[in-house]
Amino acid sequence: MANEIVTAIKHVDINNSNVNCEDESDVVNPWNVVSKSETGIDYDKLIKRFGSSKIDDELLDRFEKVTGHPVHHLLRRGIFFSHRDMHQILTMYEQGKPFYLYTGRGPSSSSMHVGHLIPFIITKWLQDVFDVPLVIQLTDDEKFLWKDLQVDEANQLAFENAKDIIACGFDIEKTFIFCDFDFIGQCPDFYRNMIKIGKCVTYNQVKGIFGFGDSDVIGKISFPAVQAAPSFSSSFPFIFGKANLPCLIPCAIDQDPYFRMTRDVAPRLGYHKPALLHSSFFPALQGAQTKMSASDSNTSIFLTDTPKQIKNKINKHAFSGGQATIEEHREKGGNCEVDISYQYLRFFLEDDEELKQIEKNYSSGELLTGELKKKLISVLQPIIAAHQECRAKVTDQIVRDFMTPRKLKYGYC
Ligand code: TRP
Repeated sequence: MANEIVTAIKHVDINNSNVNCEDESDVVNPWNVVSKSETGIDYDKLIKRFGSSKIDDELLDRFEKVTGHPVHHLLRRGIFFSHRDMHQILTMYEQGKPFYLYTGRGPSSSSMHVGHLIPFIITKWLQDVFDVPLVIQLTDDEKFLWKDLQVDEANQLAFENAKDIIACGFDIEKTFIFCDFDFIGQCPDFYRNMIKIGKCVTYNQVKGIFGFGDSDVIGKISFPAVQAAPSFSSSFPFIFGKANLPCLIPCAIDQDPYFRMTRDVAPRLGYHKPALLHSSFFPALQGAQTKMSASDSNTSIFLTDTPKQIKNKINKHAFSGGQATIEEHREKGGNCEVDISYQYLRFFLEDDEELKQIEKNYSSGELLTGELKKKLISVLQPIIAAHQECRAKVTDQIVRDFMTPRKLKYGYC
């Protein structure tokens, strides 16, 4: 019992409230991500600490063989770098057995930045490749509890964020989006699962996993059950009927504590443990030491930015791995590992050959920082413009349609 929780706790020092995941340099938990290193979080260490598995070439090869698709560049380039039970999902797919996808977002501000798109880009790709149902949870309740927001404000942000999510191209026949404040009261089965989960986890365990303390409000302490519940298909009887299906959750690695807890309780409730694909963090313009902040518009490129804003922000704020003078740069070359323009290209430039060439030329000093920035600007401007065009077409009615509990196109009920 409590295997996953115990494994995770073994790897951390339990001497302060950040017990879930902190060592000398890196802090990674659902509310805080900080690294003191210029290159950001040490992800190999994180895999060990969290007890997950590395996404290696063998898994990627199998992915391609089983699905018949080349893997997405976010997987190929190690941006999604860690997993739990992905082999089992591939086996199910191979055997024609059903499963579903689950992801989510905490709506803390009305304008999302490019980093927020990463889990949705991979989820959309996975939905296309596997052709499976998808549920997307918008945790307006979580943001109400953690931020200085009124219930209605958080709920409204969820509605606005849903438009950006829908603009990523999700298929309405295959996708159910819900915000907790509106949905949970309508769905007794979801609530039952929340409470069943709540009965399996002690206060001592959530303290260990999330670092809660004696002065945290009880709403926070019970919230993990809300994020865990969508991992079980019986929470959505209108989609899955009485079927008990496993799910696959693409998310940033900071969300793993929720799902370690979920995986721990699943067998006791007669459910499957959710499988996971973990991404690394999208770095702030100023460098990889911190996660981007939705409240400081200069730390990132927002989905609402104009072409001019994109250009100015990159030119002014994108941390450079180049040298101080042109002469020095030509001689010593730039450092791609810390250069934010190069790092952003890894996320958004699809052409592998071109990216490789850029890396070579920048490292050798042939390509200058200004030229690298220009390339990033020319890649991001059309992506953001296309996103804005798609979003403008998402009406309130379309959002309400995605959020209506209904049978999807799959015949589980
Ligand atoms: N807690 C997440 C956030 O703050 C939102 C979320 C809910 C989520 N369910 C999820 C994220 C499932 C990934 C997968 O962003």
